[in-house]
Formats: sequence, structure tokens, C-alpha cells
Amino acid sequence: MRVSSIVAGLALASSAVASPTFGWGKKHRDSLYKSMKKSGRSFIGTALTLRDEPREDEIVDANFNAFTPENSMKWESTEPSQNNFTFDDADRYAAYAKKNHLQVHCHTLVWHSQLPAWVSEGGFDNKTLIGVMENHIKKVMTRYASVCTRWDVLNEALNENGTYRDTVWLRTIGEAYIPIAFRLAKKYNRGHAKLYYNDYNLEYNEEKTAGAARIVKLIKSYGGCIDGVGYQAHLASESTPTAPGPAPDQATLEAALHATADLGVDVAYTEIDVRMNTPPSAEQLQVQSDTYNRIAKSCLAVRKCVGMTVWGISDKYSWIPGVFEGEGAALLWNEDYEKKPAYYGFLKGIKAKKWGWWWW
Ligand SMILES: *[C@@H]1O[C@H](CO)[C@@H](O)[C@H](O)[C@H]1NC(C)=O
Ligand SMILES: *[C@@H]1O[C@H](CO)[C@@H](O)[C@H](O)[C@H]1NC(C)=O
Ligand SMILES: *[C@@H]1O[C@H](CO)[C@@H](O)[C@H](O)[C@H]1NC(C)=O
Repeated sequence: MRVSSIVAGLALASSAVASPTFGWGKKHRDSLYKSMKKSGRSFIGTALTLRDEPREDEIVDANFNAFTPENSMKWESTEPSQNNFTFDDADRYAAYAKKNHLQVHCHTLVWHSQLPAWVSEGGFDNKTLIGVMENHIKKVMTRYASVCTRWDVLNEALNENGTYRDTVWLRTIGEAYIPIAFRLAKKYNRGHAKLYYNDYNLEYNEEKTAGAARIVKLIKSYGGCIDGVGYQAHLASESTPTAPGPAPDQATLEAALHATADLGVDVAYTEIDVRMNTPPSAEQLQVQSDTYNRIAKSCLAVRKCVGMTVWGISDKYSWIPGVFEGEGAALLWNEDYEKKPAYYGFLKGIKAKKWGWWWW
């Protein structure tokens, strides 16, 4: 149907000088979008998986000006076998972004997970693996130059204690793989995508946050360019079998954002969800609402925090129950697409800082 003609247009556009879409222009009802726009930041987004759920389109239209493709741009989706690129799925998201005037937080180029075995177990030597990385970055970034507002160049490179995670990249190339990835991303950035490092637990684990700061400095020490650090913010509103709770207080969140923002990069919350033990009680939903509230406030209290993305729309499709049994209810809309207390807490947190630093 029409997707193919949009995609044909996209292919033509990518040969011209490209620039990503900035989606603050549209009219929306009272919504996350409208409040975030007033705050002067650049985006409010959601992870997106296109599916046959018309409510999701309405919610995206009313509340968000950005999305992160949940899976379609990961390595296993775009280059499942060597130099054999499969863009059909990712193209659908690019077309959706253009049609709806949405920013895209493109995700992700260099990561150890959802990485096909031909890379992780390919036995490549240093030079060859750098070549594999270069070819991937070149082909994927070039194709989506006209849609990507931000790129997660590197994802989850740290252990919890702040050391580098043991991956095929680190084992083969050494820590130089990090500045090399960012150098290549800059080289093939034909649009204006901001280049990000993205990781989880940076919101409260000081050793890991210090590791992220070290990565920013490392890239800069190689003369490279990094524009931002993404704090995933997969948090829990209470103690669960898989997460410490409650989620950090606002001062902790702000200090964590400052740990990298003060090095001169943008910061953003990139994958927010706040899980709990299920089924939730009214009290638990209120604690979750308070948690979303302070996450929003912490972003808006930090000048360099440019936006926030929640990791999905409805609890019906969250990744959490499938991975952490007995946990979930982590998002802003319930399984029937009704707004939860968390939605109102998040909205209030965004509105609370409407005037921002401007008074000072
Ligand atoms: C490329 O990948 C697709 C999807 O995995 C597969 O169907 C196709 O056979 C591959 N082509 C080549 C030339 O390897
Ligand atoms: C840090 O954590 C990793 C992964 O758990 C572990 O292998 C390593 O030994 C730890 N390093 C230090 C210095 O504690
Ligand atoms: C791999 O090659 C890169 C680029 O020449 C270099 O910076 C890095 O130190 C090398 N790694 C190893 C383990 O030799």
C-alpha cells in the first residue's frame, strides 16, 4: 500500500542533503507534548512497535513528538548476515516518522546484544572487525540520515561496577572501539543526528555513572564527538525480585544527570519505565505516579536534559512481564489504554517546571 511509495520517496531524499524532522509544530490537546513544549526542551517520546492498535496512533499523535523504534534498527534486524542489509522493517518506521512529523531516536549501532552470531562469534581480527563496524555504521546511518534526530551510537558498554563490559568489541579492539565507533558515526552522519551513549542504572549507580563520564572523556580525548548520554531509566517504584526500590529521590536523579551533563554533553531519559510487583494496588499505582513525577522534575531541573522517552505506551505490550515474571504495570497507560495515575504524575512533573531556569 502507501508505505512503499513513502519509502521510495525516502530513498530519493537520502541522496540529497538530509535533515531530521523536529516535531514541535503540530497542534495537540492538553497532553505530555504540549506541556513539554512549553518547558522549552526538545522532545517527549515513546518506544514504538507498529501494530494493529489504533489507540496507539491516537496516543502518539496527542502526546509525543518523538519515538524510538523498539527493535527494527538493531543489528540483527538490519544486517542479519554479513553485508546483507534488510531495511524493510526499519523503513516502515522511517515512513511513519515522516508521515507524522516525528523525531526519531535511532537505536542502536554498536551493542553486544541482539547482535547476530556472525559478528559476535565470527572470530574476526581487530582490523576486520573495525571494518565490519564501519560498513554497518555507514550503511545504516546513511539510509536513515533524513529521519534520525539522535543516534544511540553505543549501547550498554558498562558493567555495574563501571568497568567495560566484556563483549566481542572490547575483546577484539580494546577500549579504542568506543572512540572508533563515535569517529565512524561522525564520519557517516550525513544528516544532523546527535550522537549518544545510552545505558541503564546510570540514574543511581554512582560507579556506573562515573563509567559513563569516563566514556565521554575517552571519546573527547581521542578528538571525537559525543553529543549526549542517554539514561535509560528502567526503574522500579518498590523492591522487586529484580530491582532495588524505591526508585531514587529527585536529588539523586539530578546529581546523576549532572555527572555527565557537566562535561558539556546533552542528557536525556531514553527508556523510562517504572515496574512493580503485579497485580498492583491503588497504593502501588500512587507510588509509581510519584516516581514518574520526580523523574520528570529531575529532567526539567537540569538545563542540559533535552527530553524524555517512555519505553512503550500500554502495559499490554510492555517487555517486562515476559522477562521478569510477576513484575510489570510499568507504563503510563493500562492494558485498556486508560491513563494511569502515573500519566498524571508525569504530566504534573513536566508542568511544575514550566518557567524553568528562566526566572534566574
Ligand atoms: C539476506 O538475508 C535475508 C534475511 O535473513 C535472507 O532471506 C537472504 O537469503 C539473505 N541473502 C543473502 C544473499 O545472503
Ligand atoms: C566488575 O564487574 C565485572 C562484571 O561483573 C567483573 O567481571 C569484574 O571483575 C569487576 N571488576 C572489579 C574491579 O570489581
Ligand atoms: C585495534 O586497532 C585500533 C585501530 O588501529 C587500535 O586503536 C587498537 O588499539 C587495536 N586494538 C588492539 C587490541 O590491538
